[in-house]
Amino acid sequence: MQSWRASLLHFNEDGLAQYESDGLLVTGPNEAGKPTILAAGSHASLAALFASVPCTHLPGRLIAPGFVDMHVHYPQLDVIGSPAEGLLPWLNHYTFPHEAQFSNAEHAAEVASFFDELMRHGVTTALTFATSHPTSVNALFEQAQKRGLRLITGKVLQDRHSPDGVRDQTEQSLIDTEALIKKWHGVDRLGYAITPRFAPSSTEAQLRGAGELAAAYPSTWVQSHVAENLEEIAWARGLFPDSRSYLSIYADHGLMRERAVYAHCIHFDDDDRALMRDTATAAAVCPTSNLFLGSGFFDFAGAERVPFAHGLASDVGGGTSFSPFVTMRAAYFAGREGQTKPGLSLSPERLWWLHTAGAASALGLEGVVGNLQPGCEADFVILNPQATPLLARRTSQAENLAELLFAMIVLGDDRAVERTVIAA
Ligand code: GUN
Ligand code: ZN
Repeated sequence: MQSWRASLLHFNEDGLAQYESDGLLVTGPNEAGKPTILAAGSHASLAALFASVPCTHLPGRLIAPGFVDMHVHYPQLDVIGSPAEGLLPWLNHYTFPHEAQFSNAEHAAEVASFFDELMRHGVTTALTFATSHPTSVNALFEQAQKRGLRLITGKVLQDRHSPDGVRDQTEQSLIDTEALIKKWHGVDRLGYAITPRFAPSSTEAQLRGAGELAAAYPSTWVQSHVAENLEEIAWARGLFPDSRSYLSIYADHGLMRERAVYAHCIHFDDDDRALMRDTATAAAVCPTSNLFLGSGFFDFAGAERVPFAHGLASDVGGGTSFSPFVTMRAAYFAGREGQTKPGLSLSPERLWWLHTAGAASALGLEGVVGNLQPGCEADFVILNPQATPLLARRTSQAENLAELLFAMIVLGDDRAVERTVIAA
């Protein structure tokens, strides 16, 4: 067992922020021997109980749950910041040629830098796209396993409208997917996500096969993209004219269920929102990507009006940063679009929840990651609110929790992440 004394931020079951200015976090093995949060609360209330546990005292630091990135592409590390008119030219000119290199196992070993970036930015759980090559999936899982990280990924399915080098074969793609599920899903902290890239790049047969696998392996995740860009939507609708909407294509192929996660979900109507809600499907909201590619703005008010699960994601490399601070900041700006009532677009506590406990809950991992409640896996970040001169100046004047969190969201980046602790 070990303990840390610092300020603590975590969330209760209703998603409300809990803050201890002088807190104690105690970690140690649970009955199964897995590193777990054993207690989190005020130092005054816990110190006597855990007096014999070695304690690291971190004055001036804030301990918070490790961040959860609901949608990121590991093979797009070198695609970040590639300028394009919009999604489809960006995919064709930069992303597909880049991903084609991941058939090579040596290139796939680039994965090590991906994990370095996640850790440097305080991300401890990620739902990640690999490429269409099984080598890329094996490389990713092997590295995550070595680092003890909780990671969910899968081989991308894309058997049409994709260039040579990334396009796969329908039958083989489904055989490969099932073999990878059997090899990796549920091993240590790893999970498999059935990963059709997006409806326009899969045949009906591939989507149907993916849906059958999603039914046969209900504890796996499903991940894809939807309703990101107007040109993409028109294309998808033309290819699947029998489906009510772009989103319905996935429902019509058995790809909407608990643990299904769709990136973007921008151009929705209320029937789409109700379909998300009724199928317990979640949205990964990717504001830096949406702003960079000019895709549009996720409708946070719509997702409250017809409520469905959602959380935040970087979407690197459409997204421009691995930093959860940058993503929360962009979500705040995106939430200003279409705002009809006066007030904040999203509160800082809510933004933080959407990237930690809320994201974990949207992934079906509530009480497992993304929080510091007893029983959660012991992943957390040690943040330094004095990391830069301006952060120090601004946070020292914060008069309450909202002001402290807002200052960190607006001014923070990887420099504020002093240490990322995995499975302590
Ligand atoms: N739609 C299909 N593939 C992609 C991708 O790689 N990134 C984004 N942002 N959208 C997609
Ligand atoms: Zn994406």
